[in-house]
Amino acid sequence: MVVNFYRPVEVFFGKGAVNRVGEIARRYGFKALIVTGKKSARESGALEKVIRSLNSHGIQEYILYNEVIPNPTDQVVNEGARIAVEEKIDFIIGLGGGSALDTAKAISITSSNEGSVWDYMKYPEGPRLVPYLNRPVICIPTTAGTGSEVNKYSVITNSLRKEKLVLSHSLNYPRVALIDPELSITMNAELTAITGFDALIHALESLTNRAENFMAEEHSVKAIELIAKWLPVAIEEPDNYKAREAMSYASMLAGVAIDHLGVALIHAMEHPVSAHYPDVAHGLGLAILAPYVTKFNYKGNPEKYALFAKLMGYEEKPELAVDALVDFLERIGLLRTLKDVGVEEGILERLTEDVYMLARHSFLINPVEPTLDDVRKIYQEAYEGKL
Ligand SMILES: [Fe+2]
Repeated sequence: MVVNFYRPVEVFFGKGAVNRVGEIARRYGFKALIVTGKKSARESGALEKVIRSLNSHGIQEYILYNEVIPNPTDQVVNEGARIAVEEKIDFIIGLGGGSALDTAKAISITSSNEGSVWDYMKYPEGPRLVPYLNRPVICIPTTAGTGSEVNKYSVITNSLRKEKLVLSHSLNYPRVALIDPELSITMNAELTAITGFDALIHALESLTNRAENFMAEEHSVKAIELIAKWLPVAIEEPDNYKAREAMSYASMLAGVAIDHLGVALIHAMEHPVSAHYPDVAHGLGLAILAPYVTKFNYKGNPEKYALFAKLMGYEEKPELAVDALVDFLERIGLLRTLKDVGVEEGILERLTEDVYMLARHSFLINPVEPTLDDVRKIYQEAYEGKL
């Protein structure tokens, strides 16, 4: 077997990494678009650090685009792209959680090519258009979970069509990731749990799906080990820098792992949930579905699920992967059902159809290839909480 390992993102990792942004940005020009949300980057002090660093390196001109929302939409990306073109932006800084980073990357593609962002989204048949240019992007995560700072994915929601899809292209890599664990300290317990669990599922799905790449799998294994140990600590002791650092690192590793290996049915089934219910955070949707999908999946790759159970501190048996997830979710306070978060029973059929229409390409790499009946049944179980 020949494996490929392509890492085009330059990473600066550690306390104070955010202060390098000015020095690095000089490579790319003098006019920045800072893409971020309304509140957290400002409240955490991260935005101020970025602006101070830019100014001290002679970059006085920047436009603040702080319209990013959780589960970011195509409108938000298209509007950001319009500004980038009109204002002749040299480079883009994505500052915030996964939504800000995904939006910044997608603005880069959209502002540098024809059409709108939806032309580049990956339907099972492929995207409508292929990009050929981008603008440089610097990603600065303030959460620990998405991994978007090191990979080629942007997940965007079309609120009119109620579809959530992935933009995946080698031009969608940021040039530089500044990963400063200190920025994640202001996250509250719930956000820490939700984003950290996203990273765990990136690691689990990349490790267990049918794609093979032993170099990338090393990253999944290390990420699981770190998250099992440090996510509960980060939740219980928000100021514990060691825990924050471990989580930022694990999130990055898991982001690399999915870049090579992809995800699988947990993500494929989560996206329709948050497309129809944008108030359900991605990581929470994953938390709800993970035990049920894992119960369906573990027989398809017993060796890797046994390894997962072991890494989570259980006996090395595949079926214990389900227990490991349930116990961990309970510990981090995320054990919920679809019903609990307001999903209506009547929509489960539509969600099932959406998985087929929008994400059936992931069926082939899932440990067990599901039928639509399997997907329907898993949604029903996750709705009722019947494991
Ligand atoms: Fe994810």
